[in-house]
Amino acid sequence: EKQGFKHFMLKEIYEQPGVVRACLEAYFNTDWNAASANNNSPINLGLPAELYADLEQIQIVACGTSWHAALVGKYLLEQVAQIPTQVQYASEFRYAPSPLTPNTLTIGVTQSGETADTLAALAMEKERRQGKEPKYHARLLGITNRPESTLGHMVPHIINTLAGIEIGVAATKTFIAQLMSFYALALDLAYRRQTVSSDTLEDILKGLQHIPKEIEATLESQEHLTEQLAHDFAETTDFIFVGRGINFPIALEGALKLKEISYIHAEGYPAGEMKHGPIALLDAKVPVVAIAMPGSVYEKVISNAQEAKARDSRLIGVTPVKDGEAAEIFKDLIPVSAVDELLSPIVTVIPLQLLAYHIAARRGLDVDQPRNLAKSVTVE
Ligand code: M6R
Repeated sequence: EKQGFKHFMLKEIYEQPGVVRACLEAYFNTDWNAASANNNSPINLGLPAELYADLEQIQIVACGTSWHAALVGKYLLEQVAQIPTQVQYASEFRYAPSPLTPNTLTIGVTQSGETADTLAALAMEKERRQGKEPKYHARLLGITNRPESTLGHMVPHIINTLAGIEIGVAATKTFIAQLMSFYALALDLAYRRQTVSSDTLEDILKGLQHIPKEIEATLESQEHLTEQLAHDFAETTDFIFVGRGINFPIALEGALKLKEISYIHAEGYPAGEMKHGPIALLDAKVPVVAIAMPGSVYEKVISNAQEAKARDSRLIGVTPVKDGEAAEIFKDLIPVSAVDELLSPIVTVIPLQLLAYHIAARRGLDVDQPRNLAKSVTVE
């Protein structure tokens, strides 16, 4: 039931703090000191040691929003756990797989566990590794919201994303839950491979514990603001979303959410790529949403945003409220908490979901059942 919300999508957006809490409880040992004193990982995914042994590479296959979650996962697995990681569209990988590499973990990310391309990519990976020497054997892991699905029966190991059933065709809470799986996986690997100090690890774990409250604060402050903002885009036909680093996939996700439910043409770009072509599209009719979170690429995103402003684009900033510089550049601010850069995607995606929702709802569209789309794509 919709529990008083106008659409399932909005209800599911609001369920996200609870989903993050469920994942924190399930995957992370809250008594970090006791866990580390006993030499146990502070993360508990129930995965066997052989999955991780001598790991040299990770490859991830997925589609749509799950592919975006995988891109955040790649950032974490490479930058925190220092493991080379490739992310492939399942529909591409199944016909042009990368050459076989040894000691490789293959992860399929699919909330439904029924996406035909993702299942076929994993089946192909299993088959082509059969009969090879042990270091080439398939190591398959599924990240899914439905362990009882076809995927659940196909792969030996699963991370259950614990989002509860999602009805809206546009994925929201299952995306957040997939992100949580990748935080847990990357931190578990980082702990085991000692790629970060225990102080850093502890800081990240503490930061994660605060995330549900940060999402709640974002929902509270953004709901009205994004609804108001949506009024201005009744006639808009094109939107650009930009971000960098760990927030580049969030720019892609913001654009996908908007296209899916509002039928507005939208593209996400790494902000530094704008000048290599897409900037030619910009003028006063094309709004640009820039995700500018404090951290390693903040100044770069701000200067990319300035370039867009010089082309008369209406600039909408997803950025912390107190920042004077940002306040000057952006015509509209969607303020979010200044969380650690590494954790920021879990917060920055929220206003983009709300913005897409309100634009579509304002246009009177069928938000939960957009045209031409199905909740799970079980055909090729
Ligand atoms: O069930 P899956 O996660 O495998 O689905 C993959 C995509 O079809 C899905 O994420 C799609 O892009 C959503 N409608 C996004 O909102």
